[in-house]
Amino acid sequence: MSFVIRHGQLVTPEGVLRGDLYCQNETIAAIGPDLQVPEGTREIEARDFWVLPGGIDAHTHCELPSPAGPASDDFYQAGAAAFAGGTTTIIDFVTPERGESLMKALDRWFEKSQKTCIDYAFHMCIPNFGPETAGEMKRLASDGINSFKIFMAYLATLGIRDDDILRVFDAAGDCGGLVSVHAENGQMVEYLQAHYLSQGKTAPKYHPLSRPPFVEAEAVNRVCALAKAAGQPVYIVHTSTADALKVIARARFEGQLVYSETCPQYLYLNDALYDQPDFEGAAFVMSPPLRPLGHQDALWHGLASGLVQTVATDHCPFMQATQKIRGIDDFTKIPNGGGGIENRMGLLFTGVAQKKLTIERMVDACATAPAKIFGLYPRKGALLVGADADLCLYDPRGETVISAKTHHMNIDRSIYEGVVQKGKVAMTFQRGRCVFDGEIHADRGQGRYLPRK
Ligand code: URP
Ligand code: ZN
Ligand code: ZN
Repeated sequence: MSFVIRHGQLVTPEGVLRGDLYCQNETIAAIGPDLQVPEGTREIEARDFWVLPGGIDAHTHCELPSPAGPASDDFYQAGAAAFAGGTTTIIDFVTPERGESLMKALDRWFEKSQKTCIDYAFHMCIPNFGPETAGEMKRLASDGINSFKIFMAYLATLGIRDDDILRVFDAAGDCGGLVSVHAENGQMVEYLQAHYLSQGKTAPKYHPLSRPPFVEAEAVNRVCALAKAAGQPVYIVHTSTADALKVIARARFEGQLVYSETCPQYLYLNDALYDQPDFEGAAFVMSPPLRPLGHQDALWHGLASGLVQTVATDHCPFMQATQKIRGIDDFTKIPNGGGGIENRMGLLFTGVAQKKLTIERMVDACATAPAKIFGLYPRKGALLVGADADLCLYDPRGETVISAKTHHMNIDRSIYEGVVQKGKVAMTFQRGRCVFDGEIHADRGQGRYLPRK
């Protein structure tokens, strides 16, 4: 499987250059102008396209179990939709039940992931800190799972106390792991949820009111203090507010290594979407929630300036008709999450077209930085000789209107319904194999598991 891409605008770690990229078998074999390649090599004319490294989505929840049934995209469906959106690697969250052995949960996730078409790695969630946890974390890290997620919300199922957070930081430090955090003050959320429900306020629009911006900012501030106490770096997932960004900026200014991830939904959508007839607001119930106008600009600025390092999707789709509906009488029972694995690269490119960030920042946030932070670089995340030939050929011309009618994700709503995207993904390659060219070409089981350094 060899081919050469000609005359593309290549976004490489050395900058943007117009030229050729030669792929041999599964890897990038050469990059440069007017490459000489063996006779008979397939040629792909890319004069009109940006040539980007395949996206890395470092925050997905394929088939996440919930009381409303598993998240509706399985590992195969999510991978295929990712290809249609220019993403070629995911890092999914193994989510054990509280008290369950981490290794046992990992076995379950491996069973589910066998069918996937996309290259993937795992983070491990830590829903409690028991006598075995530090030992299991050590074993996981040496097996290539070296990022651990803790939750400060969802106290009934996944959230842990501050002293256990410190224990996780210590254990991660001992095994060279990185702790990532869902930062919302779970006790405040529970208090506010009960407050609204006691007044008969059960509609989706009370979801954001029960998780206001200060709920996130307080938790980010606290976990930065805990990370400081432990002398460890920390990665804040799905940052959604200007308030949280200010806390992160201050911690970084004071010398702490705090990484921040945001998601396209927090860049593009706002909390007005919750107040819709016929329970339609439920489609947007996710945590943290969509925010009032103003926060989106702050996040774009944070992303453009490098205060926000990565953009992931928190892909966690639930069907409106059969799953979200469980919360029709009580917003706290609506399964949390939305789908977006297919939309990230297009929406970020739209930001580039609107001059909100540069193409280099887009590529860094969507591919290179997640690869570096989570130990996949240089095999993944950049156009480099010797790297896997994971590519996204992006056609900047024209417009695409996003819709559930045309997307490939297994979900009956698009949270971006009607959003106009600049251009579209023309072709996606995973390890030299064309997996999308307007149609998906993906076999079950072709995805490769990636242990990390
Ligand atoms: O609402 C969300 N984000 N659901 C997925 C789980 C999480 O909190 O990341
Ligand atoms: Zn989360
Ligand atoms: Zn998540």
